[in-house]
Amino acid sequence: MEVIVVPAAQDVATAAARIIARLVAEKPGAVLGLATGASVERVYAGLVLAHRNDALDFSQATTFNLDEYVGLSRSHPASFHAFMEEHFLGRVNIDRRRVHMPPTDGDDLAGSCERFEHDIRSAGGIDLQLLGIGRDGHLGFNEPTSSLASRTRIKTLTSVTRAANQVRFGAEEVPLHVVTMGIGTILEARHCLLVADGSAKADAVARMVEGPLTAMVPASALQMHPRATIIVDEAAAARLSLRDYYREVQENKPGWQR
Ligand code: GLP
Repeated sequence: MEVIVVPAAQDVATAAARIIARLVAEKPGAVLGLATGASVERVYAGLVLAHRNDALDFSQATTFNLDEYVGLSRSHPASFHAFMEEHFLGRVNIDRRRVHMPPTDGDDLAGSCERFEHDIRSAGGIDLQLLGIGRDGHLGFNEPTSSLASRTRIKTLTSVTRAANQVRFGAEEVPLHVVTMGIGTILEARHCLLVADGSAKADAVARMVEGPLTAMVPASALQMHPRATIIVDEAAAARLSLRDYYREVQENKPGWQR
């Protein structure tokens, strides 16, 4: 894992947006795996800026989102469809035919999930998967004890996750069921880029990076990935015991590796 510790949340977003922008500039037809949540909001803001100011072109890019609630209409303000529209899709020149959200309706959800996986493969696989992390160490909506080999499927949310996501639902109940890419799906992306900020994530970040590989912390599966970049601010890095080492690695990174 490459662990990059930066001073503040905005620096996390700036660094992550730069990595994604560089990929899209070098490979306009890149396949991007996208995430939702407060941590990635600023990353999208950075990409929208790059689109407006530096003419970063998304017209050839393909996107696959990680997860979505079951039983929520696309236009519901708390849906991930709405989030993506508001923060990214509606603000760049993406071709809607290449935008893929996980299936959440129809009689055959399991079949639709298989087709979603098939679509990822047909697009050539995901070049870069953007990720946040849940306070309980979840990736996408793969809650603790999710199989580390899991594929896109229906999951039941824990009460911790539902409480964390309540803010977008107001007085309404957070749905219990979701569809999420599996850990196995995520691990097949050629590059995994995870961002986290704030002290509420410090424990999850430490367990992901330095704890044992365990389904109790789904994000620890990234330890198995040959190219995982973790960008965190000081607050989210607070419980990493090798913090100084990660800094030293970054400061002494050979030019050919930048
Ligand atoms: C949700 C999403 C995850 C995201 C997590 C953290 O549960 N399904 O993909 O990583 O929230 O969100 P936030 O960045 O808002 O803390």
